[in-house]
Amino acid sequence: MTVSNPSPLTSDADWWRSAVVYQVYVRSFADSNGDGIGDLQGIRERLPYLRELGVDALWLTPFYTSPMVDGGYDVADYRDVDPMFGTLGDFEAMITDAHALGLRIIVDIVPNHTSDRHPWFQAALAAGPGSAERERYLFADGKGEHGEQPPNDWESIFGGPAWTRVPDGQWYLHLFDPAQPDLNWRHPQVRAEFEDVLRFWLDRGVDGFRIDVAHGMIKAEGLPDVGFSSMTTGRRQSELLGKGRLPYFDQDEVHDIYRAWRPILDSYPGGRMAVAEAWAETPQRLARYIGPDELHQAFSFDFLDATWSADSFRKVVDTALAESTIVGAPTTWVLSNHDRQRHVTRYGDGDVGLRRARAAALLMLALPGCAYLYQGEELGLPEVLDLPDELRQDPAFLRTGESRDGCRVPIPWSGDLAPYGFGPAGSELSWLPAPTTWRALSVAAQAGVPGSTLELYRAALRIRHQHPALAGTGGITWQEIGPGLLAFSRHADGSTLTCVVNTGDSAVRVDGHGTPIVASEALTEQDGGHLLPVDSAAWFERR
Ligand code: NOJ
Repeated sequence: MTVSNPSPLTSDADWWRSAVVYQVYVRSFADSNGDGIGDLQGIRERLPYLRELGVDALWLTPFYTSPMVDGGYDVADYRDVDPMFGTLGDFEAMITDAHALGLRIIVDIVPNHTSDRHPWFQAALAAGPGSAERERYLFADGKGEHGEQPPNDWESIFGGPAWTRVPDGQWYLHLFDPAQPDLNWRHPQVRAEFEDVLRFWLDRGVDGFRIDVAHGMIKAEGLPDVGFSSMTTGRRQSELLGKGRLPYFDQDEVHDIYRAWRPILDSYPGGRMAVAEAWAETPQRLARYIGPDELHQAFSFDFLDATWSADSFRKVVDTALAESTIVGAPTTWVLSNHDRQRHVTRYGDGDVGLRRARAAALLMLALPGCAYLYQGEELGLPEVLDLPDELRQDPAFLRTGESRDGCRVPIPWSGDLAPYGFGPAGSELSWLPAPTTWRALSVAAQAGVPGSTLELYRAALRIRHQHPALAGTGGITWQEIGPGLLAFSRHADGSTLTCVVNTGDSAVRVDGHGTPIVASEALTEQDGGHLLPVDSAAWFERR
């Protein structure tokens, strides 16, 4: 694939305020060596595709040394690349090429927990109770006469107790899998280590960090019980995520960590940023992670959770924009990621789900702020619901029966046989199998095809970059044009762009908003207006 006029990085330190960031789930993006697993060299080879798609930056999920119990979110060495994904040299070559194409690179940082294979945890196990080595994690004695019960009632997000007992009788905390022990962020060595890890990657040119479990590093003093658990109520504690307060999340002291990180980011040129994967009780508490002395962004998962209705979207958009005004930072819109069912499927699957997903993309890309795309959404990929259980690798699957593997199936690039060009020519391996229906969804099958989802994304991203009304982070003006319809305008330099989404049950005539410039389904002209089909969206322009 050739790229016309590759542009170098802009010098704009505020690039992240209106960027479109493409999330690469490294394991499933592109496999350069035919082992069935995506890698850094594979990303490097596909950079021209991403440049042509029109995104501004990539967010790479963890590629560090890891036993891969939780897809790399269990890090054993924060300063090296897992051989499965390549070498540090591959990373450097990839980021150099990305920058030459004008693409920025955001990497994941996983500070809440390490892998149980991390040298610190191995040393903690070997050193025994009361040792300095154990202080870097959260070891505690159990309750009960012989310490045979966990220290408190906390539950793992992946199901079951958040504590595991080691042979000498102590317990250690793991808010996720037992292979992901939580670090003690009240320990100065932990803080110093991660500040150094930030510098390590900043020195290698990364443009930003996505902070995993950014709300989790500080636990309430005394490790108090939550007061309810699956055992007592049949309801999992994780149901409170984003709705209530938990003693292991969103503690005030966590903000001290980010106040120490921000000057480090600011000491590098070119606008190095950080985005929090944080869950808080209210949008107001979430907003506390953002600001000139803390982080640049926090994902707005409410948009991802909105149902397919004009009212639902309007409510979350209004709340998010109001918060963003208060904190002076852009909203980050997300429809899908590697942890959630793909939105084609969430919106109804099949043709209906795809139509709605395409419309939602136009809605998201017309909103002010930063948009995060998840690899494959530009192809309209659905969730793979029928993976055989024995192939599923999500550690949560065994504990809860829920699995995130269905949104992590390798990307189809080309060809007639699975895995559809995921690896080099002739390679038949992929760590999860792609369904046969994905042949028609591959990049090659959609590129240059009018009306394909890929071409829709390319067109929308092109307009988003060029249209003055979509540039910047300016506000929106809602238009009341009827039930089931979501419509808003953005203005600049005498031109107006109006996005209209039809979530109702019949086609609607739209007029008075100018000329359609992109639509998720074909519009028909009717007496000077345009008929917008059900489950679709369009952008209209008036100059
Ligand atoms: C959030 C990540 O997105 C998810 O994939 C991971 O399992 C947990 N954090 C634990 O690191």
